[in-house]
Amino acid sequence: MTHSPDAPNAAPVLEFQDLRVDFELASATVHAVRGVNLSVAAGETLAVVGESGSGKSATALSAMRLNPEPPCVYAGGRVLLDGRDVLALPERELRKVRGAGISMVFQDPMTSLDPLQRVGAQVAEALRLHGGHSRAEARLAALTALDEVGIPDPEHRYRQYPHELSGGLRQRVMIASALVARPRVLIADEPTTALDVTVQRQILELLVRLQRRHGMAVLFITHDLGVVAETADRVAVMRHGEVVETGDVDQVFARPAAQYTRDLLAATPRLEPAA
Ligand SMILES: Nc1ncnc2c1ncn2[C@@H]1O[C@H](COP(=O)(O)OP(=O)(O)OP(=O)(O)O)[C@@H](O)[C@H]1O
Ligand SMILES: [Mg+2]
Repeated sequence: MTHSPDAPNAAPVLEFQDLRVDFELASATVHAVRGVNLSVAAGETLAVVGESGSGKSATALSAMRLNPEPPCVYAGGRVLLDGRDVLALPERELRKVRGAGISMVFQDPMTSLDPLQRVGAQVAEALRLHGGHSRAEARLAALTALDEVGIPDPEHRYRQYPHELSGGLRQRVMIASALVARPRVLIADEPTTALDVTVQRQILELLVRLQRRHGMAVLFITHDLGVVAETADRVAVMRHGEVVETGDVDQVFARPAAQYTRDLLAATPRLEPAA
């Protein structure tokens, strides 16, 4: 994504301040997130990378207070959406944040879609949850969203069930339902990992296009540093629940400060900085 010139000075839409997330298990307490500070501005894409178990998903889910409690305990810090601490909101307000404020796209659309409900109805439902829309308005908005994410013949697809769609189309449906309520922030957690390579590319291009059109703040979690180089403005590298390095993608990839970032880059030969 091209770097939006005013992004660094713009007020952050989403901000993690010294976030601490524990999972209290019978055997031990896992300190999954240990004082994370991150922010994303409107129109900006922040990629979060790091090894498995480094706390990327636990951090992202905190933005909607979606880590399962128990075993999750929010042990410290704040998550500000437009300056309001999501972790301190009453359940009613939290429901408004989920969807209208922040939406999420996950890796596997099959587990996020209801197999027994037509896909169009599920997209419409995502809008209806936020109130104020008649059935007809929600249907029209859902058709528009299906069209916008590049699903051909939306009227026909609207009536189909998830199993009648390919993996790529299902992921497009998930993106449509994430965007139908026009969220300020989109969180995409490994959104293309389950798809084959050409479909991955199409979905990434779609996300870039939608982000530009709507000026959303995007938090993008991925293992693929090549994807980061192509899609993100800034990158945060996580390890053991901490951010070990953050900065503009070009700068971090050209001159990584942390040894761990250098190791990650070395594992992606085409991105390895010249010695
Ligand atoms: N619901 C949960 N219950 C118990 N432990 C959890 C839960 N969710 C995450 N954890 C633990 O918190 C730590 C961070 O997990 P997290 O899912 O955030 O990692 P991640 O960086 O997203 O990894 P991956 O790249 O594999 O998705 C891990 O040790 C994980 O086992
Ligand atoms: Mg994860």
